[in-house]
Amino acid sequence: MILVTGGTGLVGAHLLYKLCKQHDEIVATYRNEDSQKHTKEIFKLYGDCSHYHKIIWRNADVTDIPALEIAFQDITLVYHAAAMVSFNPKDDVQLRKVNIEGTANIVNLCLSNQIQKLCFVSSIATLSKKPGIKIVDESCEWNPEEDHSDYSISKFGAEMEIWRGAQEGLPVVIVNPGVIFGFGMWHANTSKLFVQIKNKFPFYTKGVTGVVAVNDVTKAMIQLMESTIQNQRFVLVTQNISFKNLFDLIAEKLQVSPPRFYAPKGLTEILWRINSFLSFLSFYKIDNLLNKYSSRSAHNQTNYSGNNIKRSIDFTYTPFDISIQEIADKLS
Ligand SMILES: NC(=O)c1ccc[n+]([C@@H]2O[C@H](COP(=O)([O-])OP(=O)(O)OC[C@H]3O[C@@H](n4cnc5c(N)ncnc54)[C@H](OP(=O)(O)O)[C@@H]3O)[C@@H](O)[C@H]2O)c1
Repeated sequence: MILVTGGTGLVGAHLLYKLCKQHDEIVATYRNEDSQKHTKEIFKLYGDCSHYHKIIWRNADVTDIPALEIAFQDITLVYHAAAMVSFNPKDDVQLRKVNIEGTANIVNLCLSNQIQKLCFVSSIATLSKKPGIKIVDESCEWNPEEDHSDYSISKFGAEMEIWRGAQEGLPVVIVNPGVIFGFGMWHANTSKLFVQIKNKFPFYTKGVTGVVAVNDVTKAMIQLMESTIQNQRFVLVTQNISFKNLFDLIAEKLQVSPPRFYAPKGLTEILWRINSFLSFLSFYKIDNLLNKYSSRSAHNQTNYSGNNIKRSIDFTYTPFDISIQEIADKLS
C-alpha cells in the first residue's frame, strides 16, 4: 500500500485525490481529526468525493516514532509531503525538529520496512544562485554562505536525510517545487492570496520567482514514482513571474481590480521590523507572511528552470494562466 504523509495539507490532499482514483486503498497520516475536513473540502471542490472513503487515516506526528511504526504497517511506497511551513523566527527549533528529525524518522522507517521508493517534497528554497548563472536549476547546490531562513535550512537538512537514505540503499526521488498554487485551504498557503486579492489587497512588489500548479506537482510525483528514475531531484517550475504580473493575473481571473500600489523595498523592510518587534513584545501574533525573508523575497528576482523533468519523463506543465483560472473559478 501507499503512504502519504501530510495528507491534510495542500499538496498531500491534492495528491490523495489523484491516488485514490487509481488505487483501492491509500494510507494517509493526520495529526488531528479536524484537519481531515480540509482534505474532504478539496475532494468536494474537484466535484467527486466517490473515492474519499479509500483513505485509511493513521494518526502520526512525524516526530512520534511509535505512531509512525504503526502508520508504516503494510506500506510499500511512501510520499513524504508533511512539513512545517513557517517563517516565524520563534519556530526555528520546531522547524528543525519536524522537517529534519521528522524526515530522518521517515527515512529510517523506509529503510527498516524495505520500502520500494520514497518521494520527498522539498522546495526551490534549497537551491542557491551560482555566480554567473542566470537560471537556477538542479545543479545549483545549497550555498551555506547565503542568509537562509530557518525554513530553508530545515528543508535542506531534510534533503540531506533523504540522500543519506539513498546511500543506505533506499530508492528516492526529490521534487523541488516553486511556489505552489492550488484550490482549497483558502485560509492558508498561496490560496489565501486569492482571498486577499478578492478583498482588494492594495500592494504589489517587483520580485520574481518560480511558480507551479499543485496539479503539476502531484502529477510529477506520481509519474516519477512510477518511473525507473531514482536518486535524482527535479525542480518543478512552470514559469517565472513577477509578483506584479502574478497579482494582476489573479485579479484578472477573479474579475476584480489588481493591487495598485507599489511597495518598495524600504517600506517592506520597515514593515517586517515593526511586525517582529510587536511579536517580540508578545502582545501581537506575528503575521507568518510578513517577516525578514518574505519581505526580502518579495523583491528578489530569481529565475528557475523546471525543464529537466520534461527531458527525463513524458511530462508537460499546464499553462499557468489556466491553473490560475481554475483556482479563481473554484473560489467564486
Ligand atoms: N506550498 C508551497 O508553496 C510549497 C512550495 C514548495 C515546497 N513546498 C513543500 O511542499 C510540502 C507540502 O506543503 P503544503 O503546501 O501542502 O503545506 P501545508 O498545506 O502547510 O501542509 C503541511 C502538512 O504537513 C503536516 N504536518 C505539519 N507538521 C507535522 C508534523 N509534525 N507531523 C506530521 N505532519 C505534519 C500538516 O498536518 P496538519 O494538518 O496536522 O497541520 C499538513 O498535512 C512541504 O514539504 C513544503 O515544504 C510547499
